[in-house]
Amino acid sequence: MKKIKVFAPASIANLGCGFDIMGLALDEVGDVLEITAEEGDGLSIVNDTPVPLPEDIEQNVITPVIRKFLEITGNKAKISVRVCKKIYPGSGIGSSAASSAAAAYGMNELFGCPLSEEQVVECAMEGENLASGGYHADNAAPAVMGGIILIRGYEPLDVIKLPVPGNFYCSVIHPIIMVSTKEARSILPKEVPMHKAVSQWGNVGGLVAGLYSGNIPLIGRAMKDVIAEPYRKQFIPGFDALREKLTEAGALAMNIAGSGPSVFALADRGDIAEKAGEIMREHFDALGIEYEAFVVKVSNKGAKLIA
Ligand code: HSE
Repeated sequence: MKKIKVFAPASIANLGCGFDIMGLALDEVGDVLEITAEEGDGLSIVNDTPVPLPEDIEQNVITPVIRKFLEITGNKAKISVRVCKKIYPGSGIGSSAASSAAAAYGMNELFGCPLSEEQVVECAMEGENLASGGYHADNAAPAVMGGIILIRGYEPLDVIKLPVPGNFYCSVIHPIIMVSTKEARSILPKEVPMHKAVSQWGNVGGLVAGLYSGNIPLIGRAMKDVIAEPYRKQFIPGFDALREKLTEAGALAMNIAGSGPSVFALADRGDIAEKAGEIMREHFDALGIEYEAFVVKVSNKGAKLIA
């Protein structure tokens, strides 16, 4: 019998302009799984957290990840998973990706690392597909690899780790409003007008250039989304007013975290990040909406063994 404990971080997808192709890992916040492999066959998942998870394991994102790992590596085993720590689902900070990444990374470690990092990400994407109805890696890749990730292409998966400027902070607020990723994806148009595409790919290029050159104002200018945000911001009360207050306070940018309803502000100074957190809390207090809020650094570390 072999047993490990693995952590995978929360993550923020899209970073404004990078719908389905960019994401970053957060420090400290994340999921913890304990995975045991024994001789035999079968899978069981026990939830040891107060966070509600599906009773039916076919609906748990961990299941397709483990099955994919066993299928592509040709292994057979009896796998037991204990969920020890869990980000609240629907929070927009990569809850399903954190569990999926922890499961994929943990299985790879348990079986002697037969898969490359990219293959581990591919396994984790199976969980994302179950959760959102789409194979996207913009949460799964940073949750596995850490740092800021660009997914250059999906067929085949081509994942690039971008430089993280020192002292990058995310102030994140999760207003307690239910928005499912499936719903937030289903309201998006299937086609994008040329002028919007031009604006978006200009920003993606600008963001990548800004990260490589450490040009902070360029990073802030480039984190704009003309494709998903105009449709999704209706779910977040006072979205435009909040962004105005945050940028006035010195935040580099404010965007929807993944498909929302969380929003995040990026800052290159701890004091600005704290101030941004305060402004976010005041905003939702004034609207009478409950929330969870935190300020964390962008992390260069992804999934890791903790026991
Ligand atoms: N890129 C995905 C989306 C992230 O925006 O739908 C989901 O968290």
